[in-house]
Amino acid sequence: MSIIGQGIDRLDGRLKVTGGARYSAEHPVPRLAQAVIVQSTIASGKVVSIDDSVARSLPGVLTIMTYLNAPRLPTPKPEAGAPPAKPPPLLQDATIKYNGQPVAVVVADTLEHARHAAQSLKIRYAATPAVLGMQAAKKSLTTPPPRRPGEKTDSTRGNAVGAFSQAAARIDAMYTTPIETHNAMEPHATIAAWHGDELTLWDASQNISGVQKTAAKTFGIAPEKIRVLCPFLGGGFGSKGSAWTHVMLAAMAAKLSGTPVKLALERTQMFGPVGSRPMTEQRMRLGAARDGSLKSLMHDTVSSNSFVLDFSEPSTIITKSLYKTESLQTTQRMATMNVGAHTYTRAPGEASGSFALECAIDEMAYQLKMDPIAFRLQNYAERDPEKELPFSSKSLRECYRIGAEKFGWSKRTPEPRSMRAGRMLAGWGMASATYPANRDAAKASAMIRADGTALVRCGTHDLGTGTYTIMTQIAAEALGLPVNKVRFELGDTLQPESPGAGGSKTTASVGPAVYEAAKAARVKLVAMAIGDRESPLSGLSPDGVSVENGWLIDRQRPDRREPMVTVIARHGGTAVEAFSEAKPGDEKKQFAMHSFGAVFVEVHVDPDLGTIRVPRVVAVYGIGKLMNEKTAHSQLMGGIVWGIGMGLLEKTEMDWRTGRAVNANLADYHVPVNADIGSIDVSVVDEDDPHINVLGAKGIGEIGIVGVAAALGNAVYHATGKRVRDLPITLDKLI
Ligand code: MOS
Repeated sequence: MSIIGQGIDRLDGRLKVTGGARYSAEHPVPRLAQAVIVQSTIASGKVVSIDDSVARSLPGVLTIMTYLNAPRLPTPKPEAGAPPAKPPPLLQDATIKYNGQPVAVVVADTLEHARHAAQSLKIRYAATPAVLGMQAAKKSLTTPPPRRPGEKTDSTRGNAVGAFSQAAARIDAMYTTPIETHNAMEPHATIAAWHGDELTLWDASQNISGVQKTAAKTFGIAPEKIRVLCPFLGGGFGSKGSAWTHVMLAAMAAKLSGTPVKLALERTQMFGPVGSRPMTEQRMRLGAARDGSLKSLMHDTVSSNSFVLDFSEPSTIITKSLYKTESLQTTQRMATMNVGAHTYTRAPGEASGSFALECAIDEMAYQLKMDPIAFRLQNYAERDPEKELPFSSKSLRECYRIGAEKFGWSKRTPEPRSMRAGRMLAGWGMASATYPANRDAAKASAMIRADGTALVRCGTHDLGTGTYTIMTQIAAEALGLPVNKVRFELGDTLQPESPGAGGSKTTASVGPAVYEAAKAARVKLVAMAIGDRESPLSGLSPDGVSVENGWLIDRQRPDRREPMVTVIARHGGTAVEAFSEAKPGDEKKQFAMHSFGAVFVEVHVDPDLGTIRVPRVVAVYGIGKLMNEKTAHSQLMGGIVWGIGMGLLEKTEMDWRTGRAVNANLADYHVPVNADIGSIDVSVVDEDDPHINVLGAKGIGEIGIVGVAAALGNAVYHATGKRVRDLPITLDKLI
């Protein structure tokens, strides 16, 4: 039986529940000082003066770093062909661009001392008028550059405006989504330690080599002089994909203090300095013929943007390729304001865009009096209409069919308010999901040791998703060893380089590298045996030897065999080591590669109070091969849970007079808790995609959230007859 795919328990589970897993803020470092950031209280303007006379005299205070004394940083060279990057606010001048921007770092012997001193700083500001809120920011829209070279920001196929005006059925509706804040369970934290001109960073990061490169550029030193470590992460969701200002400030404060420094952000500081999902306004226009064929599909997105860093939430992305349509038009604009940076948030674009698209599809199905699945099937894209390529695999039709069957969709009466659950209004809704199958180059090493164990390494990340576990499974299978003889190490830039854990690509990128490295080590070992006259396998061809459970076995005569350890012992006990670099080929030129899924939800809405409960979700995905059934299901389930949060609960409430988030804590920023979640039934269509990569894995980190908010919106409409187009769908919008 194959080791890959088995739902074995998380190998890091015991360490995590016993406290043995060290997170970034927990590494014991001698002479470690504690740092806190002081944040601006205005959204735009300048620091005029900082009075630190009281703070300096307080016990334990080591350093008060402001723009006046912060180490001067080299001016970064602009990247070839790229627009000049906005310099991150690293205390190089007095300018303030958002409310909450770090204006000082206080370092002391204890956290309490650092906090006390930070609170006693007297900072005076000169405020200038800030751009706050969509209305103000939309006065000056900008167009983001294409996400990748060769792609377009806006898409046009045919005459979408003309086809819309002539269509028999039309939907023209505006959808909005709010700023959402990632709120990983583990807040961001960095420990920075200098040894001469060498820097070590323990950083809560889903992109350690990215942090290494950014730090190298920021400080003008060679990347090899910087080591970044992150063996364990308590979630990232895109927020930990960047090297935010606190990482560099920790290193600067450590330099200035002459001692290692820890800077761990508080929950409240998650709201602003470390990214968030932009808010969006999305106009959807759909034109269809009476038979249900889409004649025109138009999607215009404006997403909020920060003066600190350009980022656009590409909500139009799935509209370009999810359905077949006669004509299409999509636009993507940014409305820039004085807020903290926006960034990648689980399924950036797909999550917010699917809310607008999949609700508008539902609205059109109602107008046409068609079943929403039938309407989707009528416009099923057999090929990717944007790239004009066949899909490497696509099981969306099966997802609809299996999901409908499991959910009992045929028992749905389509009229709004037509179904009840006791005195509750019952609503059944569904939506499609899709996410691209991404892959990047990755390196790995594998070593079979004299004691019969193997050590496999890649500087990748485990966000809590199961990377340790599945990479061990992949390596074990390729090595011919049982899982308990294989140790997989990650989270250190001294290990072979991995791409960042973003875009749901770790399995598809690192998996093949681990597989190839492990296989290469096994091949070396087999070569050693068959070239050795003392081996019972001497003289066999490499293909004639199988490796199972730590034994090398003659395929023809299985009684001729010997353990791996014997081969290594005869060769002096030296470990057998191999490296690999696995890269995508040109398969993306031949195929469009996506995961797909269908999400079905039931909601119960209190007719008097408007409260919404979600007793059940049924979701079916076509995502290639699973590396571990258990961790895969957990990932998809986690995405769905966040989708319920996105649909019903989450919103970063901004005070647009000051530019400050007013619910910057987990009491007021609502995420789903156990009591909010009913049954979640996740299943996966068996998919064999030979084009994607050697493992056939498409990546599952993000697709789980996609479509959930739309399915909820559609279910709430079915329950109540009210179409809520503004997330989150809260009771005040229903009564
Ligand atoms: Mo993901 S938003 O690419 O971590």
